Amino acid sequence: MRYADKIVIVTGGSKGIGEGCVRVFVEAGAKVVFCARNAAAGEAMAREVTARGPGEAHFVRGDVSKVDDLRALVEGTLRRFGRIDCLINNAGWHPPHKPIDDFTVEEFRALLDLNLVSIFAACKLALPHLRRTKGNIINMSSLVGTMGQIHATTYVATKGAITAFTKALAIDEAAHDVRVNSVSPGNVYTPLWQEAIDAAPDPARCRADGEAAQVLGRMGTIEEAGKLCLFLAAEATFTTGVDHILSGGAELGYGRKTRKG
Ligand SMILES: NC(=O)c1ccc[n+]([C@@H]2O[C@H](COP(=O)([O-])OP(=O)(O)OC[C@H]3O[C@@H](n4cnc5c(N)ncnc54)[C@H](O)[C@@H]3O)[C@@H](O)[C@H]2O)c1
Repeated sequence: MRYADKIVIVTGGSKGIGEGCVRVFVEAGAKVVFCARNAAAGEAMAREVTARGPGEAHFVRGDVSKVDDLRALVEGTLRRFGRIDCLINNAGWHPPHKPIDDFTVEEFRALLDLNLVSIFAACKLALPHLRRTKGNIINMSSLVGTMGQIHATTYVATKGAITAFTKALAIDEAAHDVRVNSVSPGNVYTPLWQEAIDAAPDPARCRADGEAAQVLGRMGTIEEAGKLCLFLAAEATFTTGVDHILSGGAELGYGRKTRKG
C-alpha cells in the first residue's frame, strides 16, 4: 500500500501506458480518476480494476484536447474526493510516420493541442489543488523527444517541448513543494505500438525490429511504466524537473544509422 488513499488523476487511462498507471496505482491503494474518449472501455476497466482493489478506479469520459473536458475531470475529482495528490498527463498520440513535406501545418497545430497544450491546461487546472497537498505531476514525454525519430517531426517536437516544459514548471512549483517530473518511454508495447505494427508493410518484421531496438531485447510493459510512475509519486521525494528514461537501453551504444551507402 505504497500510495494508500492518495487521489490520482490519469489522462488516457483506458489502455496502454495510462492503463498500466491506473492498475499499478490502484494496487498501491490509490483512488484513481482516469479519462479517455471511449466510455464503454473506460467504464468496464474501472469496474474490473476496482473489483481487484485495494484502491479504486473511476472513469470520466473526456477529450484532453478540450479544456472544458479537463476542467470537468479536475472538478469531478474534487467533488468526489476533495483533494488531488498526483496528476499523470499521459494521453497523447503518435501520427503515422511521414516526411515533413506530407505533414500540413494544421496537422501539426492539432497535434500540439493534443500532446502539449493539453498538458499545460491540465497542470494549470490541477495546480491550485496540488499545492495544498504538496502533490506531484508526471508528464508522459518520449525518448524520441531528445533523440529524434525518422519521419516524425511533429510528434518529436511535441515531446521535446513536454520535457522542457516539465523542467520550467518544476522550477516554479518548487516554491509550493510540488514536484514535476517527466517519463520518457522508448518502446513500450501498447495498442499505439500495435497500430504502428498493423500499418507496416511487414508487420512481423516491424514487431521484431521494435523488440530488437533495446539492449534488453524486448519492449517494455505497461506495468513497468506504471511502476516507474508510482516510484516517482510515492518515493522520489527529492526528485523534481527530471526526465526519467524508460527504454530498456534503446539509446545505448553505436549502430548503423545512415540509410546512405
Ligand atoms: N508506447 C510507447 O512505446 C510510447 C513511447 C513513448 C511515449 N509514449 C507516450 O505515452 C503515452 C501513452 O501512449 P500509449 O502507447 O499507451 O498509447 P495508446 O494509444 O495505447 O493509449 C493512449 C491512451 O490515451 C487515450 N487518448 C488518446 N487521445 C485522447 C484524447 N484526445 N483525450 C483523452 N484520451 C485520449 C486513449 O484512449 C488511451 O487510453 C502517449 O503520450 C505517448 O506519446 C508511448
